[in-house]
Amino acid sequence: MKMNVNILKLSALCLALPLTANATQNDLVEQGKYLAKLGDCTACHTIDEGQANGGGLPFTTPFGIVYSTNISSNKEFGIGHYSLEDFTDAMRGGVAPKGNLYPAMPYTSYHLLTDQDIEALYRYFMSTKPVKQENRDNDLMFPTNIRMGLKAWNLVNHDSKVFEADADKSEKWNRGSYIVNGLGHCGECHTPRDAMFAMDQSRHFEGELIGGALASNITPKELNRQGWTKQDLDDVLRKGYSRKGTVFAGMYPVVFHSFSHLTNDDMSAVTSYLLDNDGEITAKSDTFNGHDKSDPGYDLYKGYCAGCHGIDGEGKPNVSPALIANATIDKAVPINTLSVMLNGVEEQRYSYTHGFYAMPSYRDTLSVKQLTELTNYIRKVWTKQPSDLTESQVQEWVDQIEDSIADAAH
Ligand code: HEC
Ligand code: HEC
Ligand code: HEC
Repeated sequence: MKMNVNILKLSALCLALPLTANATQNDLVEQGKYLAKLGDCTACHTIDEGQANGGGLPFTTPFGIVYSTNISSNKEFGIGHYSLEDFTDAMRGGVAPKGNLYPAMPYTSYHLLTDQDIEALYRYFMSTKPVKQENRDNDLMFPTNIRMGLKAWNLVNHDSKVFEADADKSEKWNRGSYIVNGLGHCGECHTPRDAMFAMDQSRHFEGELIGGALASNITPKELNRQGWTKQDLDDVLRKGYSRKGTVFAGMYPVVFHSFSHLTNDDMSAVTSYLLDNDGEITAKSDTFNGHDKSDPGYDLYKGYCAGCHGIDGEGKPNVSPALIANATIDKAVPINTLSVMLNGVEEQRYSYTHGFYAMPSYRDTLSVKQLTELTNYIRKVWTKQPSDLTESQVQEWVDQIEDSIADAAH
């Protein structure tokens, strides 16, 4: 009898060991799955209606068109043959076994990741469904020495340093900074680029025009001036719409694929970091300066816009956002106000129950004079921004928007 118990105990112990090892493996894979959402890996590495992580999405860069690659666990076409070390080198240094990667792959942000998070991502990708899909060849378009050129680019422009916490800030703030600047790679759009196409960290988050819309200034100073509360940011990053307006252009997929999946704790860290404030923030009162019926902008607004946005800018639930308290119109540079008028906004769904209608494009309807009058009028009624923009200023912004659309299409 006694011996049996011991055998039982022993076999329980033998079972226990691999079981715990398995549990931590699974935990790592689960953790990696979450991190892959924060990093938006699958969205960039999957074509429309394609198999997840099979690659093939084109990116326009100053170096030419680059296609994302197969990062599924397939050993022949994907990254199934990668060691953890190979994966770490790709994430931190932008160096894959095949050579240097184009910075369309945001290793320029991912280098901040801890070893543990990189390992979790690695375990997760090794567990993904292998996709048998060959990579599109960039080298047909580029001289083969370009990957060597990237080595030189990295030497000058890339620092593969891991995240270092700022000792003067709270743990929460640091967690937010780690997410936003690392996996979130928010700076890849929101930080202006220098002549070498590298993020200019001296102008961190000050805004950059991409594909016809301004990835706006999201420094704490500007977000606080615009009157964002933590709840507003939580809403806009999680749901895509908030008291301060909706997301559109390049920001919509970020919310849809990535930040809508954040845990409450991580979202709270992100909003603390973005507003540089660990406490609560109360909403400021909304600006509504009243209408001026003698202003030529009044008739334009009433005729073209009020049907959806409401005569007093109150918006309509599930149709169109309010202009009262809207962050898009409360910006010194009105590029995004002009951008939505020129380009319109496609119908966007934010969840099963929420979405907004499309906004039509007025590119062929409104003249530069009318765009100027409307922009000035909107600012006059709903913001404290000066409303004396000139036609030549507006023409210049329109040209910048059109140029940036053309750049993205090449
Ligand atoms: C903004 C788009 C984008 C995002 C987001 C992105 N990637 Fe990439 N990735 C690319 C592109 C483009 C390439 C191809 C670069 C090249 O061929 O030089 C690439 C290449 C890679 C490679 C090299 C594969 C090979 O062919 O050897 C790996 C590994 C990789 N990505 C992993 C990831 C992981 C993991 C994430 C998420 C944490 C991620 N990527 C997020 C665009 C992206
Ligand atoms: C048919 C309805 C409709 C009309 C007409 C319309 N809009 Fe919009 N507008 C929308 C919708 C819907 C969105 C947001 C869509 C989204 O992000 O999902 C929007 C977004 C905007 C935004 C960005 C704010 C934000 O929070 O996303 C501005 C600014 C704007 N509209 C101004 C105007 C102006 C100025 C006019 C008149 C020239 C106008 N709109 C006419 C429906 C309309
Ligand atoms: C692919 C480019 C891109 C990336 C990556 C990106 N953004 Fe944006 N973001 C934009 C654009 C374009 C806008 C302006 C359109 C709008 O207001 O939705 C914007 C607007 C915003 C706004 C203002 C929304 C408003 O209503 O005024 C916030 C806040 C923001 N981004 C935060 C972030 C954070 C945090 C991240 C990282 C998780 C991020 N963005 C990553 C392109 C991007």
